[in-house]
Amino acid sequence: MKDDVYSKPNNLLRLLAYIRPYWLSFALATLCGIVKFLVPVINNVLVGRGIDVLTAAYAGDLPRSAAWAQVTFWALLGMGLAVGSTLPVYLRSRIGARAVWSVVRDLRCDLYAHIQKLSHSFFDAHRSGSLTSRIIGDVEAVQPFLNQGLIQSWMNIVQITVVMSILFSQNVKLALLSMALIPLHVAVQRMLSWRVKANARAIRDQLAGLAGATQEKLAASTVVKTFTREDDEVQRFSEDSNSLIDLGIYNSHLNGLSQAAVTGINALAPLLILLIGGHIGIFQPGELSIGLIAQFILMQGQVYGPFERLNEMQLITANALGATDRIFDIFDTEPEIADRPGAVKAPHFTGDVRISGLTFRYPDALSPALTDFTLHIPAHTTTALVGPSGGGKTTVTHLLSRFYEWEAGTIIIDGGDIRDYTVYSLRAQVGLVPQDPMLFSGTIEENILYGRPDATPDEVRRAADQAYALGFIESLDQGFNTLLGERGIKLSGGQKQRIAIARAFLKNPAILILDEATSALDSESERIVQQALEALMRERTTLVIAHRLATVIRADQIAVITAGRVVECGRHAELLERNGLYAMLCRQQFGEQLPGAPTLD
Ligand SMILES: Nc1ncnc2c1ncn2[C@@H]1O[C@H](COP(=O)(O)OP(=O)(O)OP(=O)(O)O)[C@@H](O)[C@H]1O
Ligand SMILES: [Mg+2]
Repeated sequence: MKDDVYSKPNNLLRLLAYIRPYWLSFALATLCGIVKFLVPVINNVLVGRGIDVLTAAYAGDLPRSAAWAQVTFWALLGMGLAVGSTLPVYLRSRIGARAVWSVVRDLRCDLYAHIQKLSHSFFDAHRSGSLTSRIIGDVEAVQPFLNQGLIQSWMNIVQITVVMSILFSQNVKLALLSMALIPLHVAVQRMLSWRVKANARAIRDQLAGLAGATQEKLAASTVVKTFTREDDEVQRFSEDSNSLIDLGIYNSHLNGLSQAAVTGINALAPLLILLIGGHIGIFQPGELSIGLIAQFILMQGQVYGPFERLNEMQLITANALGATDRIFDIFDTEPEIADRPGAVKAPHFTGDVRISGLTFRYPDALSPALTDFTLHIPAHTTTALVGPSGGGKTTVTHLLSRFYEWEAGTIIIDGGDIRDYTVYSLRAQVGLVPQDPMLFSGTIEENILYGRPDATPDEVRRAADQAYALGFIESLDQGFNTLLGERGIKLSGGQKQRIAIARAFLKNPAILILDEATSALDSESERIVQQALEALMRERTTLVIAHRLATVIRADQIAVITAGRVVECGRHAELLERNGLYAMLCRQQFGEQLPGAPTLD
């Protein structure tokens, strides 16, 4: 376990790289912090001096007026230093916070940007809730490390050096005595830190899992309620939460051990000085003044304080490292889909698509989703993909957008292998209306504009009109400014689909893919959207996936897909004549009253 915990020491260095742009702020904050710690140290020395003056005055060795003048001087000097140090103390906090939060922001933004670059297979394997927990929670856990760990460790090192120099210059015996318990401090810290780190990582993993499961179940609250599984969900949640208790208790156990050791040592140290210092003072008169003994006693806190904070820092670092490892694990995940060396920007597509011999298996899947899949989709035509559920229709459209890497075969668009184009320039020309369109929190207009942010309001309106969405949008009080999502209204499935279609229209892609895009509409709406679509389809290559065959009988070609292959391909009438799978599917949907070949308008 210990080896595993220390397996990624360079993650700390990678984190430190984020600090480089703010090194000046970190240095300034540290400098101000050093003032904060040193002023009390100096003041203890001044108090020691003052006590010696008082002792002399009590014994009658110093005239009262002289004693008073000296005591006043030491006290006023100390007060001046104390007041003067308030500004650096404030600045240390202020400058430090700015630097720390800037680093946290940079790290979080980089992580988010990296996750955005990752491929579909990564998102298939990670729940969105668990990723959110990394972007928000893990990055947050780094913050105390930057603040306490980084800034304070320098402050502490300077303090230890200064304090020990003062003590050794004043009395070597007492100075050595002051260090007597330090090895105990170091031993405790070494013993605990790797355990804390391992436990911290376990807590973060557990939290991420809990966040993932919770987000999923809350998002699917309809399913939970439909099957009246609320109690089971509460039970499962409570079981998952229980394992966190054990980890949390173990964490407190480690922290408790550390605090107990530290408290004990802190309490012992001044008394050790009183005992030994007192013995020296009494039996070797002249070696130690009362003021010096008092100063040593007062300064024990300043000897052990830095060790205590360094100890704490070890725990914080250990904690942060647990989070850092999880963060850099993601940074180390390469996007599966990246531009090939020498990839070029795709030309403006006319949209001739040739898929040949495509074989593809989802990561971890036992059997391939596509096997030797071959299909030619001529430019500016409409191809319908039909066939039984799970046949591979959606998969083939995902490969067309290069969401996954495939094993064998090629997809050629306008004569070029799509893997030789840059991913961005390829996807910019493919519009996909997915099976379950996602709309974002925001206005309807913003959701449509997502397809092409620089579109004018008129273009947005036209796209909505073409998608047969204008009517219902205008019937809403706020029209295009109606808020959707958490704080806004909810749309019906068919309304969502039409917004998603409008969004794809606005993008105006050379290749348009409609994956069951009108499945939630009633027949009348679907017919109207289909008419709007037909006008748009003439200008581009369109792939329509539909289970409702009435929506595809007018397609230029219909490809019947089952078990990852194209088993039949042709026009509606041709396929009926073949009397194969398509004819059977048609008979299932239309009965024996098969619709004939469509008459074009
Ligand atoms: N992300 C995924 N990871 C692993 N396997 C997947 C994934 N998506 C789909 N599959 C599998 O690949 C096969 C083809 O799925 P696909 O979604 O392409 O079917 P489909 O023809 O679109 O079906 P439907 O008509 O129900 O939408 C199925 O066996 C499915 O289980
Ligand atoms: Mg599908």
